[in-house]
Amino acid sequence: MYFQAVASCLALTSAVTAQQIYDVWSTTWDRSDLFTYTNLSPNPIDFVTPGATGSADIVVNDGTVYQDMIGFGASLTDASAQVLSELKSTNSDNYWDILNYMFDPTDGADAAGLTYIRVPLGASDFSANTYSFDDTSGDTNLDDFNINNAPSYLYDTLKDIVGINSLLKIHILPWSPPGWMKDSGTMLGGSFLSQYTDTYASYLLKSLQGYQSLGFSVYAIGIQNEPQNSDTTYPTCSISASQEAAIGTQLRSLMDSNGFSDTIIIGYEHNWNDAGEYPVTLMQDAESAFAGVSFHCYAGSVSDQQTFYNAYPNKNIYFTECTGEFGSDWWSDIKWYMDNIFIGSPNYYSQSGAMWNLALNGLGEPKLPGTDSCGTPCRPIVTVNSNGTYNYNQEFYSAAQASKAILPKDSGGPFGQRIEVTVNGDLNWGLIVSGFVTNRVNSSDWPRYSLVVLNWDDQPNGSWDPTPITATIEFRGMQATYTFPVGVTTLWWYGSPQ
Ligand SMILES: *[C@@H]1O[C@H](CO)[C@@H](O)[C@H](O)[C@H]1NC(C)=O
Ligand SMILES: *[C@@H]1O[C@H](CO)[C@@H](O)[C@H](O)[C@H]1NC(C)=O
Ligand SMILES: *[C@@H]1O[C@H](CO)[C@@H](O)[C@H](O)[C@H]1NC(C)=O
Repeated sequence: MYFQAVASCLALTSAVTAQQIYDVWSTTWDRSDLFTYTNLSPNPIDFVTPGATGSADIVVNDGTVYQDMIGFGASLTDASAQVLSELKSTNSDNYWDILNYMFDPTDGADAAGLTYIRVPLGASDFSANTYSFDDTSGDTNLDDFNINNAPSYLYDTLKDIVGINSLLKIHILPWSPPGWMKDSGTMLGGSFLSQYTDTYASYLLKSLQGYQSLGFSVYAIGIQNEPQNSDTTYPTCSISASQEAAIGTQLRSLMDSNGFSDTIIIGYEHNWNDAGEYPVTLMQDAESAFAGVSFHCYAGSVSDQQTFYNAYPNKNIYFTECTGEFGSDWWSDIKWYMDNIFIGSPNYYSQSGAMWNLALNGLGEPKLPGTDSCGTPCRPIVTVNSNGTYNYNQEFYSAAQASKAILPKDSGGPFGQRIEVTVNGDLNWGLIVSGFVTNRVNSSDWPRYSLVVLNWDDQPNGSWDPTPITATIEFRGMQATYTFPVGVTTLWWYGSPQ
């Protein structure tokens, strides 16, 4: 279907100005569309000589290009891998259906093509038991380090995902150093002891080498999940910004001298509200060690990412964790996720957007025995029940709508880059929009221009009345008109190379 769209565009290259929208993906508030594809052929929407602007007017400026995207996704916890691997043994057709629908990045596939996955190193609150890769107290030579302390189903599931998606960006990081490197003597809460800085850096290098030995190519490594959180009921650890800077500096040096110079280190990995403090201190102390920092949603707001960006505009920003909770309202959640994570975070310079657990059962389990986290059960992006049934949650549809906009168009081609988009008009508040350009391997092929649009005009006069918005889209002096249903729409066109 995409080939037809491209062929149509190419046939018109001599007309220069004729861009057309053929491809639309939609998720609507009433779930009549759920990541539903429509090909508008043979009646595409033409960009024409501009007329009056719509009540909302989306102005796309491809002359201003921002960050490269790496994609959208979730975390593959031990628990997520466990429910998926159980499904694989009881109903392998469903297992492969889920993995393909979530991860196949092939252009034209009816699939989300999620390209970002975050994997805990050692136990998290979603593991069967508490473990690190070296639980021998005082083993500063790390003689007993063993990457296979993690359950084999974790690596088996990750291998299956990589087999479907060779573009996958794997981000690994611990929820705690081994307990013996901490003042608490346990992975469950406590603070990192600076005397183990070099040992812990070696531990992280060995983790990378372990992943390499298992056949994984790792995009990024982190020092500590949520370094400002110490909780005695699950693996957590306080690590100060200056401690993290010292560990990162040592780790960077070890990675560079051990063949990992292409793997980046991402720092911070905690909430928006401290964007001007911890991550800024980290850069002041160790700017060259860290490619960037990552944010979670549990305090502050997405606009706090601007604070870090203003301080270090050349550093990468990632959004890597937020969780849904069972019992919340589907459409309210979609609005929040798009506004804050899957549209909002890229609009504040993030290269990624990701939820917490990839998969859990309908009770938000399995969890680490005894943990107090997710007191209201956490909802994964896909619920997988022990009887083999499954369903995709609002977290999935939100991520999928964003993912489709930034996937490489060509095999071996680049991901999308964010471009400038503004919304004008009386109803400009009704649409939240991000825009991307995806360049081509062959520079004479037309780049793809995509928009992700949330229409949240669901109570225009104070009472429930979902109202479609007919918007104009301005691009290179031409104008298209599209009526956005209340929900999320991803659409694109191709424009001649500039
Ligand atoms: C499968 O399990 C889920 C969760 O317990 C339940 O809601 C559903 O009805 C079950 N379906 C079948 C076909 O047994
Ligand atoms: C790039 O595309 C043009 C136009 O279709 C074609 O003539 C050219 O051979 C292509 N170049 C490569 C390297 O494939
Ligand atoms: C909301 O109220 C305005 C002003 O009364 C009216 O023009 C508009 O049609 C109403 N919108 C809807 C969707 O009812």
